[in-house]
Amino acid sequence: MITNTELEYKGNLYPNKITDFKQEKDKFYFTSENGVILELTVLRNSAIRFRYATDYNFQPDFSYAISPDASRGYNKLETLETKTEYVIITSKIRVLVDKSTLRTQISDIEGNIINEDELGFHWEENHEYGGNSVKMSKITQPAESFYGMGDKATHSNLKGKRVSNWVTDQYAFSKDQDPLYKAVPFYIGLHHNHAYGIFFDNTFKTHFDFAHERRNITSFWADGGEMNYYFIYGPEMSKVVRDYTDLTGTPELPPLWALGFHQSKWSYFPERNVKSIAKKFRDLKIPCDAIYLDIDYMDGFRCFTWDKKRFPDPKRMIQELYKDGFKTVVMIDPGIKVDSDYWVYKEALENDYFCKRGDGPVMRGKVWPGECSFPDYTNPKVRKWWAGLYKELMAETGAHAVWNDMNEPAVMEVPSKTAPLDTRHDFDGHPCSHRKAHNIYGTQMVRATFEGVKKYVYPKRPFVITRAAYAGAQRYASTWTGDNVATWEHLWIANVQVQRMCLSGMSFVGSDIGGFAEQPNGELFARWVQLGTFHPFFRVHSSGDHGDQEPWSFDKEVTNIVRKFIELRYQLLPYLYTMFWKYSNDNVPMLKSLVYYDQEDMQTHFRTDEFIFGDQILVCPVQEPNAKGRRMYIPRGQWHNYWTGELVVGGMEKWVTADIDKIPIFIKEGAIIPKYPVQQYVGEKKIEVLTLDVYYKLGIETSTVYEDAQDGYDYAKGSYSLRNFKLNGKENELVIQQFKNGTFITSYETFKINLIGLPFKVKKIIIDTEEITLKSVKLNGSNSFEVTKDFSTLHLIGA
Ligand code: GLC
Repeated sequence: MITNTELEYKGNLYPNKITDFKQEKDKFYFTSENGVILELTVLRNSAIRFRYATDYNFQPDFSYAISPDASRGYNKLETLETKTEYVIITSKIRVLVDKSTLRTQISDIEGNIINEDELGFHWEENHEYGGNSVKMSKITQPAESFYGMGDKATHSNLKGKRVSNWVTDQYAFSKDQDPLYKAVPFYIGLHHNHAYGIFFDNTFKTHFDFAHERRNITSFWADGGEMNYYFIYGPEMSKVVRDYTDLTGTPELPPLWALGFHQSKWSYFPERNVKSIAKKFRDLKIPCDAIYLDIDYMDGFRCFTWDKKRFPDPKRMIQELYKDGFKTVVMIDPGIKVDSDYWVYKEALENDYFCKRGDGPVMRGKVWPGECSFPDYTNPKVRKWWAGLYKELMAETGAHAVWNDMNEPAVMEVPSKTAPLDTRHDFDGHPCSHRKAHNIYGTQMVRATFEGVKKYVYPKRPFVITRAAYAGAQRYASTWTGDNVATWEHLWIANVQVQRMCLSGMSFVGSDIGGFAEQPNGELFARWVQLGTFHPFFRVHSSGDHGDQEPWSFDKEVTNIVRKFIELRYQLLPYLYTMFWKYSNDNVPMLKSLVYYDQEDMQTHFRTDEFIFGDQILVCPVQEPNAKGRRMYIPRGQWHNYWTGELVVGGMEKWVTADIDKIPIFIKEGAIIPKYPVQQYVGEKKIEVLTLDVYYKLGIETSTVYEDAQDGYDYAKGSYSLRNFKLNGKENELVIQQFKNGTFITSYETFKINLIGLPFKVKKIIIDTEEITLKSVKLNGSNSFEVTKDFSTLHLIGA
């Protein structure tokens, strides 16, 4: 491995003095005497792209990660030249470029240094493969912390760690093991209450050292390609994360059922077993929306085929399951069995769709079916073909969603666990080897899958899952954290990974609940379901080698706890869907680590366990056996204990009681939390009433409820219902204003209002201008009553 210091000053080359400077609109070019060009692009007031060429020669400007919809534009751009530097000034930041070294320094307009080069850009010629190893080193600021970076299974604060990005099939990975399944070369730095982000958009293997090798230096480098990074300034971490997410994109809204509970196992077969699992959910009244078919539904692991002995009539089975509310999700892997009688293999071979080795032969490697070849998804023609393969599976057989696995690509029985590095790829017309295409391969596969599924489930919405991902993959798919293990430590890992992914632009994520490898006991399973209830993707999956992991596989107590939490998930669906809508529309991560939530409070900088679900629900899983509760940090502000209604003051650690049937959940004061009735699956019931849990606050808080048809695309034409609530609590009064938007008519006419923590007894209710009797709204002693969904102002007055 190339480390910064060992080779520093040996093989390294550095830019020297700037001999040429030119500006073309928002692009600035600084050329050094020895042929380095820095291309600096002002993308937004607080977002700058830095690209470096050596030998006066840029590589073609092409990125899979950057979203075509990324925002651009600024309202101020000035340049200045001093004796020693060039200065570029926007309304938010100043960038200094040193005339003698090409090093840069970025400060806010008050002059606070946000980020500065140490050695800055430097490189080493790569004589083995050609090109350069490109490097960047920065000065770590005092008390700087680091976050982000995808799925790293390590402490949320990366300070003192070194990590790398090379998507890897890491069965039964362990804490701190690196790299894993995702490559998201994006980190957030935080110091002096200033947050910024750096996205190093380079698909080669990349490395990041966060003050690990040298205490005051943070560096990142890649085994090839260009030094090409985006700098995003906050100062709020929320802005950094949202701007990064805007840059790399967000998914469309999924069908609402995708946010329900999903049951999976490797593998449910034959049909009889799938049906009996489904039936058991309904018999035991445990809500569930999706059931998964892992690789064993296929004929000898051939993708796009069915094992007709196990599944004689898949279309009928899928329809029958659907009648009972179950959507069927099927797995598709990239490895295509080498078999001259297999149509997919034949088509790919005849059309030259497979990846080839450096010297010409088709690349082969072993996966589940034995010898396989691998479509080159970095070729747009291949993606089109692959998308078309879903026609029969989705449009004719009727599968509802697809799960892409092993798409690192995983190759068995070779030490590298993946394709040989000389394997060739099209890279959308920029031919390259696997060194460059490896990290993006799975993302291009799932992109093709997404396009196919979307086409063939239309007018419904697609739902696609991927295991491997590079930055930007969130535009196409949801994801899970891979092959974890049924241990308490892995419950901790799942919590950290999912939060980290949310900070890294990929919110639609969950873990294999209960653990993929090995077998949890009932307590661990229950605790994991409790955490999973608050993960955007909520699925139990396991290898099946070590016993069953259905909600009823343990004892009755566990089954009841699991049911209770899955029911809570279904009640919270309108809240969760609103979170998704904010993610999709406003780039807001669905889970917020405490440091995101309150970066000013230093106490949050090293917290790992607590997180905010959406904007207003604080959750902290119990991660130890035999616990009757736990200590946790309650962020600043006042919070209502969800279970007891008790109001607690945050800004400190507290012991919170949470026996096996509870985990700590707190609701932010002033929040209005929408709830649906429990359903066995999305759409089972017509929603007759929307429950609004109203948590009193002395002061103002706003809440949002987004709803639409729960599937289909009418929402894009304005058929949605957006309710913004403004709650204003006074000592003896509570005023809720509602602002409505969109043309969708919800099925219910009525809100059921539950008042929580109200410090006075309601004596008078005024809806808009009309005073109504307490009896007419059925307010009888308890703090619960019904009102029309159309009110503009609801005014409650105490005695
Ligand atoms: C991989 C996946 C796992 C799946 C298995 C069999 O290990 O990560 O989820 O069950 O392959 O397809």
